[in-house]
Parts: sequence; C-alpha cells; structure tokens
Amino acid sequence: MNKKIIPEILNRKSSVCFSSESISLEEIDLLIEATKWAPSSRNMQPWKVIFVSKKHDNYKNVLDSLSDSNQIWAKNAEIFAIFSISDDKNLKRKFLDIGFCGQNMMLQAESLGIASHPMGGWNEELVKRAVSIPDNNHVVFVLALGKKGNLNKLDADLKIRESKDRVRDHNRNNFNFSNWDLN
Ligand SMILES: Cc1cc2nc3c(=O)[nH]c(=O)nc-3n(C[C@H](O)[C@H](O)[C@H](O)COP(=O)(O)O)c2cc1C
Repeated sequence: MNKKIIPEILNRKSSVCFSSESISLEEIDLLIEATKWAPSSRNMQPWKVIFVSKKHDNYKNVLDSLSDSNQIWAKNAEIFAIFSISDDKNLKRKFLDIGFCGQNMMLQAESLGIASHPMGGWNEELVKRAVSIPDNNHVVFVLALGKKGNLNKLDADLKIRESKDRVRDHNRNNFNFSNWDLN
C-alpha cells in the first residue's frame, strides 16, 4: 500500500528530552492556530489554555504543582500549557473537545520540531492557584513543550526512557468488524 500515516502522528511521542533553545512567538502562534481548528461540540471551542514560560517567575509554581515523577523531566521544558474548561453544562463533551484541541497542538508541535508531553499528574489545587484558574473550572491536562533536545545530554534514566520504543496494541481487539459487509 502506498498510502501512509502522516509522519507527525507516527513521530510524536511523550518526550522527556527538551533543549534550552527558545520556541519563537511565530511558532507559538502556529500552535494556537492549530489548536483553534480542532472540532468541538456545536463549535463552542470551550478550551482555555494558559501558557507559562520558563522565563516567568510563575514557572516554578507550576513545576511545583506537578507530581514528583513528572518534575524530574518537566523541569527541562520551556513552556507549560495548562488546558482547562469551565464546569457548567455539557461537561463530558467539553472534556472530549479539549482532548481534540490538545492533540492538534501536539501534532503541530511535532511538525515544528517541538517536543511535547501531556500530563495528568499534578495537584489540582496547586496548579489552579499558580495560574489563577477559578475553583469552578477543571484543569484537564498540562502540556510540557520545548524544542527537541539532545539525547546524549540526558541523565542515564531519562535517556533510557526517551530511547524506549513506543508500544501499541496491534491486535485490533478494540475494533469490531462484525457489522461490516465484506462482499
Ligand atoms: C491524559 C493523559 C495524562 C498523562 N499523564 C502523564 C503523566 O502524568 N506523566 C507522564 O509521564 N506521562 C503522562 N502521559 C503520557 C502517556 O503516558 C503517554 O501518552 C503514553 O504512554 C503513550 O506514549 P506516547 O505518548 O509516547 O505515544 C499522559 C497522557 C495523557 C493522554
């Protein structure tokens, strides 16, 4: 078959290898633009994304809100993007919408040579306090972003982690063709 999966899908990974090189404002604009084109229920685009740069004093507060195991590698990311939704109606759909928007950002990042890593491991109260997200909102995930780094500069443990093959269930048990007409 000549048709191929688009490389951004295949090459994106939850990376722990970031460089200290800066992401440009033009690149940030492209990340935002990609995010905006995600589908959402009734096109409500319910996501709110707060960007925190390493150069800002508040970076440390966001870093401290992450689980210890995430801090080990996330401290090298240049940017944290905090994805949240308001807690009113259509909550389930909003959770789905913001997932699509995060995936768009990660794939666009991949095409720009920007490494990304979504996280669910953080303290909700601390992350909200750090970036003034109201109590009645949900932080859905935090995305670490940074230009792709040099594997050889990583500590041994992170180097092993970054080099590991990504694995997927290839037996297709999640996909059901019993209602498919093969003739
Ligand atoms: C909602 C969500 C939460 C996640 N939370 C964490 C996390 O707290 N720490 C972490 O290291 N990885 C986290 N990950 C990354 C997953 O472990 C990763 O996507 C998965 O192992 C597949 O690897 P890949 O993204 O490299 O393909 C999270 C991913 C998602 C989608």
